[in-house]
Amino acid sequence: MSITVLTAYDFNTARALEEAGIDYILVGDSLAMVAHGHKNTKTISLGQMLASTRAVKKGAAKTKIIADIPLSIVKKTKEQVLDAAKKLIQAGADIVKIENAEKQTIEQIKLLIENNIAVMGHIGYTPQSFDKPIIVKDREALIAAAHKLNEVGVMALVLEMIPAEIAKEITEALKIPTIGIGAGVDCSGQVLVSDDMLGRYNLFEPKFLKRYANQYQESVTAFKAYIEDVKNKNFPSSENSY
Ligand code: KIV
Repeated sequence: MSITVLTAYDFNTARALEEAGIDYILVGDSLAMVAHGHKNTKTISLGQMLASTRAVKKGAAKTKIIADIPLSIVKKTKEQVLDAAKKLIQAGADIVKIENAEKQTIEQIKLLIENNIAVMGHIGYTPQSFDKPIIVKDREALIAAAHKLNEVGVMALVLEMIPAEIAKEITEALKIPTIGIGAGVDCSGQVLVSDDMLGRYNLFEPKFLKRYANQYQESVTAFKAYIEDVKNKNFPSSENSY
């Protein structure tokens, strides 16, 4: 059966995901865009990631939590990356995720694994290194990166926005599970940003996204009903008064 992963950054979303039976919760750096309104994921701080990881752990104490190492940290030394990863683990993460398979990243991942920190890799479209989403089609480079990460010891690998047949080939070649986002059905599992699939963040409509709700519009409708009730003195009623 496929592995299921969705993002959460807050207590209530984490509670709902745990109740629904999700396999893993990702505290992604997509937090920057969907919760803080930034134009990309690059600007989130370690402090913001730690606060979200703590909230998610409170809401989903029994579910495995993955937390992204933010770009501001991966630009630093491998010792500083280790220090940040330890803080994320203390905040409630079980696994940390680092994007790409460049030489410096591989060194950082090695150090984390030597220190018994489980790491998830992430290749293909890696939002920390690009200005806008693109489909990454360089088969040889993707396969080489996947093998490099597998050999260094990551526990799983996110494949983002790559052709389905390349994702299938990588999945069949590796010992570790692959988690796809825009990478076809043959990955070992799938991940989406919860706010996207719930239609809460409706400013991003990639082809790989399936919307399961329209929560942004439902919120607008509910807020309008509240505003009208208050203006017309229909709220609070005697039922809501002491
Ligand atoms: O930050 C995030 O939410 C992610 C997923 C899109 C895989 O990295």
